Amino acid sequence: MQRTLILLKPDAVQRRLVGEITARFERKGLRLAGLKLVHASRELAEKHYAVHKGKPFYESLLAFLTSGPTVALVWEGREAVAVGRNLMGVTDGAKSPPGTIRGDFALSVQNNLVHGSDSAENAATEIALWFQPDELVTYAATD
Ligand code: CMP
Repeated sequence: MQRTLILLKPDAVQRRLVGEITARFERKGLRLAGLKLVHASRELAEKHYAVHKGKPFYESLLAFLTSGPTVALVWEGREAVAVGRNLMGVTDGAKSPPGTIRGDFALSVQNNLVHGSDSAENAATEIALWFQPDELVTYAATD
């Protein structure tokens, strides 16, 4: 069993794609363990994207993530990190294959709708950044 953090970034909320994107994770069979709507502060955005500090797109990326509300989700299930990344597609929406979230709905590199943890280790760090432990819910699987 693995957990991953998925963010529906401000463009997903602005474009009313929250239901469409969330449905894809549900249909795949991942189980929802956390869900909240957050207008990220600069401090949270800096922590979340610390690995990109110094890159040419860093300031623009922070402005984007803090531009409006983000839906933060924790999904759990077998290979949740890899499954989440496969559902999202590749970073550049223009290069992401049809059938993936970015391939179907994004054309931009920055405004690419979703973020997903890239390893189980990073997932644990990112989940702790966006959620308090008591905001995560564990319940019996019926599947
Ligand atoms: P994400 O998966 O959230 O991880 C880092 C984010 O930085 C990425 O999605 C994009 O939103 C953004 N990003 C990555 N590369 C670039 C780039 N070359 N120019 C602008 N934004 C980028």
